[in-house]
Amino acid sequence: MAGTFTVTLDLTETPVLLAGGDAEQAEALLAAGARLRVVAPAPGPALAALAEAGRLTLHRRAVLPADLDGVRLCVVALEGAAGEAVAAMARAAGALVSAVAAPPRACRGRASLVGAGPGDPALLTVKAVRALETADVVLYDKLIDPRLLDLAPAAARRIDVGKRCGRHAMSQAAINRLLVAEVRRGGHVVRLKGGDPFVFGRGGEELEALRAAGAAVEVIPGITAALATAARLGLPLTHRGLSRSLHLITAHGREGDVPPHDWRALAAAGGTLAVYMGARTLPRVAEALLAAGMPPATPAIAVENATLPGERRIRRTLADIAAAVAEAAVEGPTLTLIGEVVALAGTEAPAEAARHAA
Ligand SMILES: C[S@@+](CC[C@H](N)C(=O)[O-])C[C@H]1O[C@@H](n2cnc3c(N)ncnc32)[C@H](O)[C@@H]1O
Repeated sequence: MAGTFTVTLDLTETPVLLAGGDAEQAEALLAAGARLRVVAPAPGPALAALAEAGRLTLHRRAVLPADLDGVRLCVVALEGAAGEAVAAMARAAGALVSAVAAPPRACRGRASLVGAGPGDPALLTVKAVRALETADVVLYDKLIDPRLLDLAPAAARRIDVGKRCGRHAMSQAAINRLLVAEVRRGGHVVRLKGGDPFVFGRGGEELEALRAAGAAVEVIPGITAALATAARLGLPLTHRGLSRSLHLITAHGREGDVPPHDWRALAAAGGTLAVYMGARTLPRVAEALLAAGMPPATPAIAVENATLPGERRIRRTLADIAAAVAEAAVEGPTLTLIGEVVALAGTEAPAEAARHAA
């Protein structure tokens, strides 16, 4: 840009005014050591949260000449005439002016892909709670507990994108488009997903779409169903002498059929197998493992609604687990664990199930 020269400033303990702008710009200035004053007519909740945390002072109005008293640098993040007026005011007050070029449409907001865990709200991570507390909008899957949505500010929008066990009310492409559109609107977009975003959650596709749009994205892991289920059962997924590996597989392929896994390798590995999305295709999974040489007596357990009210356990062997699951007519999300470690699973109903259901 003509008439400008890029400089690096030491802002340690330097009074800085941010006119307009968002939490990301504020965080960058705070990280540089600035003593930050923000004047913005309509600050987002994330910016307000920084003020509440005492990290900056915030005035919800237009910039006044008095706001520039003692200010060495004024960062103008307002567009058009409003931005020009503040820049002129700042120059008149002897401050350096940094006009944040109107942020590219794609980069106005930021997104967090957040794992919500298996269902029990107590299994949310602290980082996930923080993300929700600073959300401007939450896009959530169908099985998300409403109590998690209550963690978002009252003013935050909540959008049900209706994804449930591989069935989508909204196509994945439509979810990706919506995410990008929300990030372009600005603010903090939280995409709240069951379990972990990167375990059969299509979080990778959402991350790609957001990155392609130039958004800043943070991924916050969640407790995936296999880990939560094993914990509920008191079943170590790896155990000296019994299992040296854990394999997470999906039983739901592109056409709704079982994907072409290397069944021989899985059967030969002698580890623990966690089968996701297998309630309907379990007969073919068991058949393939038996044909690949896995012993019919291998212990197996299917758990429906692990960590949720209505949790059900169906414990059999590889030879008869599929028939038992079909007979139980499971409706909720169901995970099947197969392997010698399943013999270590507890049988009693977990003590805290009643507490959770209350
Ligand atoms: C689309 S995948 C999503 C997995 C998720 N990203 C995770 O990390 O747990 C859905 C499958 O996860 C498993 N699942 C998720 N939550 C579960 C729960 N509470 N109990 C049992 N299985 C669950 C089931 O196999 C279900 O069909």
